[in-house]
Amino acid sequence: MPANLMSKKVMKALAAEAAGVAGSQGNARVKEVAERVLYRMMQVIDECDVSMDEFWAAVGFIAKTAKNGEFGLMVPGVAIEHFLDLRLDEAERLAGIEGGTMRTIEGPLYVAGAPLTKGEARMDDGTDPGEVFIISGQVRGEDGNPIAGAVVDLWHANSKGGYSFIDGEQAAYNLRRRIETDSEGRYTARTIVPNGYGCPPESATRELMNMLGRHAERPAHVHYFVTAPGYRQLTTQINFTGDKYLHTDFAFGTRDELIVTLDRVTDPRRIAEAGLNKPFARTTFDIVLTRERAQAPRTVVQREHVIAA
Ligand SMILES: [Fe+2]
Repeated sequence: MPANLMSKKVMKALAAEAAGVAGSQGNARVKEVAERVLYRMMQVIDECDVSMDEFWAAVGFIAKTAKNGEFGLMVPGVAIEHFLDLRLDEAERLAGIEGGTMRTIEGPLYVAGAPLTKGEARMDDGTDPGEVFIISGQVRGEDGNPIAGAVVDLWHANSKGGYSFIDGEQAAYNLRRRIETDSEGRYTARTIVPNGYGCPPESATRELMNMLGRHAERPAHVHYFVTAPGYRQLTTQINFTGDKYLHTDFAFGTRDELIVTLDRVTDPRRIAEAGLNKPFARTTFDIVLTRERAQAPRTVVQREHVIAA
């Protein structure tokens, strides 16, 4: 069939009718969005001359994604989670909120309720043969003053790229900790250098990436939620210089301001000072939180998370 068979007027009227726009029943917000989604979907079908076979293949693909519980992976893979961050950045700029640490995507693998300790935490359970990694930093406000009692909630993959609660191989909450900053706003985590990871081989997300001619890999990273009373919640992550996938993260999570360098400590004296007996990696990541203020767009996101077993 040729493309562009339909008039905009016909598609608009059909979308509006399907979205119940003329009626007073239902949810006005859902109607507002549904009308636009339906109209744009009709436009794409008409412009690209999507065949019935192609359309139903797409429906089946979406159903497979849902059945696999993969939308949390698919959404960053098609840049929409990053796009939501870009919109929030812009909304904050317009609200006069500037100077905080850059945000980036949460990803799908956060589990609430990680053990909470004061000042420092050991995140690994000692079974991972990976490189010991010490992350330290200070949480400050826009005024430069340290924030004592902020909670730095960290989660990351192990040296094989797997997450506790997800890969079925790790103890509950391994490599997931909450650290409350000390009186100087400081936190220190002892852990293991994470590896990057890719979408599962049989996943719909990898299938889509293959069809798009893109890879389905993430560079190594450590996720952060940082909260403190009176401040805006920060969702971010750090990446490491030299990572093969640093600038092509399939999930669009890398932001230049969040790239840190791993300092490889090999000096026996410094190793001993750290209480270790072999070379290790360390990095510093300081965080600036912005004050919460009325009318500012929310940074606390309500979404489904993996439930701790
Ligand atoms: Fe991750």
